[in-house]
Amino acid sequence: QQATPQWRPVYHFTPAKNWTNDPNGLIYLNGEYHLYYQHNPYENKWGHMSWGHATSKDLLNWKHLPVAIPEIETKDTTTWIFSGCAVLDSKNTSGFGTGGKAPLVAVYTADLPKQQRETQCLAYSNDGGTTFTQYAGNPVIDIQKKDFRDPSVIWMEEQQQWVMTVAVPAEHKLQFYASKNLKEWTLLSEFGDQGDVRKIWECPSLTPLYVDGDPGKKKWLLMISSGNQDAATGMQYFTGDFDGKTFTNDNKPEHQQFVDYGRTFYAAIPYNNLPDGRQTMLGWLMPFDTPTHPWRGQMSIPRDLFLKSTSEGVRLYQQPSGVLAEKLAALPASARLAMQQTSLRSNELQLTKGNRFNANTNWIDAVFTPGTATDFGFKLTQDKTAKRETILGYNVSRNELYVATVEEGKAPVITDKLTVKPVAGKISLQVLLDKSSLEVFVNGGEKVLTTLLFPSEKATGLAAFAKDGDVKIETLKAWDLHK
Ligand code: FRU
Repeated sequence: QQATPQWRPVYHFTPAKNWTNDPNGLIYLNGEYHLYYQHNPYENKWGHMSWGHATSKDLLNWKHLPVAIPEIETKDTTTWIFSGCAVLDSKNTSGFGTGGKAPLVAVYTADLPKQQRETQCLAYSNDGGTTFTQYAGNPVIDIQKKDFRDPSVIWMEEQQQWVMTVAVPAEHKLQFYASKNLKEWTLLSEFGDQGDVRKIWECPSLTPLYVDGDPGKKKWLLMISSGNQDAATGMQYFTGDFDGKTFTNDNKPEHQQFVDYGRTFYAAIPYNNLPDGRQTMLGWLMPFDTPTHPWRGQMSIPRDLFLKSTSEGVRLYQQPSGVLAEKLAALPASARLAMQQTSLRSNELQLTKGNRFNANTNWIDAVFTPGTATDFGFKLTQDKTAKRETILGYNVSRNELYVATVEEGKAPVITDKLTVKPVAGKISLQVLLDKSSLEVFVNGGEKVLTTLLFPSEKATGLAAFAKDGDVKIETLKAWDLHK
C-alpha cells in the first residue's frame, strides 16, 4: 500500500505505524503527559486491541514508546485490552506499590471475543507507566454482560473513595461504582435513558469543574460517546451534581447537548492528575474510510474544558490547551502572521507568506464583524490549477458555520455544519488545520466542529474571503506549524 505522508498531521498525535482509536489512560505524571491509546500493533486496521503508549512534555511533540499493555492469548481465551483510564494511587490503597512509591493503576475493559464477555480489570505499573503487570485477581467487576465497558475512575477526596463511571452501551446506561482499594467495587447508582439515546453509549467520564472558575460553584460534567453514524451524535454531555453516589441532571431528561458538531470527534476522555484543577481532554478523530498509510486514526488537539453560565444555563466551553499558546508564541516571525481592521469586499485575500502558510499546517485565530456579505470565512486546501478547495464559511442569514468541498463544475458539498449566533456582533473562529484534520472553535469555544479532509498534494492554498458584500476582519493571527 502506498504511503500518504501528505495526510500525516504535524501537530496532532498519530501512531508511528498502524491503527489507533480511543485515547486511554490519560495521566500527567512527573512533568509528562502520558497518552495510552487503543492500538493494533500488527495491522493498520482495528484488531488485536492493546494499549499503545506515547509521552509528551508539551502536548505538541510526542515520543513513541513500546506497547504498554498487550493483548493476552491463552489456549482458549483471547483478551483484548479495551478502553479505560489510569490513576495514580498516591496512598497505595491498592497495595500494588513497592518501595514506598505510588503505583500507576490502569483500569480497563477486558474484551473476550470468544466468550462474548466484557469485564473491568486492573493492571499496575511500578516504573512510571512504561510496563504493566496484570492483577492476579482480575476481573474486578463482572456483571455477565457482552457489552459493559470503558471505566473512568476518579478519586473523591471528601468521601475518601474511588468512583468509577462505566457504560452498559446497548442499554444507554451508565453505572457508578465506589471502591476503597480499586479491587472491590460496590454499585452506587445508575444514570441513563436521557439526552440522545439513538446510539449506543460508550467511553463515559465524570469531571468536576468550577462554573465560571468560581470555587463556590462546583458542577459535574458527564460526557458520553454515543454513536458515530450521525453527524451530530459523536459525543454528548450533561451537567449536574454528583454527591458521591448519584448524578442529578441539571436539565430535563429529553434535553440534548453535544460536545462537537463535526463528523469525527469521538471517545474523548479527560486527563487525570493535572495540576491546578485544570481539566484537559483528548479525543479520537475517526478516520472514515480513508486509507492513510502506514498509520490510521489521529487524536484531536488537547482541549481545556470549562463550564460557563449562559442565559440558557450552564454550558460546556472548550479551548485548545493553554499549554499550546506558549508554543505558538515561541514560533519564529516567519511562521507568524497578524493583521487587524482589514475589510474584505466580495473578494479573497491570500494568506500565503513566502514559503509559509502553504502546507496545510495552519492555526488561525480570527475575529470578524459581519457586514453585507452573505458568507465569509476561509478557503482552505486551495488548488487553483484543479480548481478545488474547501470552504470554511459562516452564512450570515442562516447563522451557520459550515465546511464545504468545492470543485469547479460540481455543486458544493456541505460535509459539516453547526448553528451559532454572533456574540456582541462578532464571530470569532479558531481554525486548526493540520494536513488532514480541521478543528474549528467558535466564539471562544462555545461550539466546536471537527472534521477530516483528504486534499491532494498540491492543494495547499489559504485565503480569507467575503462573498457578495463585505466583512471586517477585526483581528487575525495565524501560525504555521509546518516542520
Ligand atoms: C469506542 C470503543 C470503546 C471500546 C474500544 C474498543 O471507540 O468501541 O467502547 O472500549 O472502542 O477498541
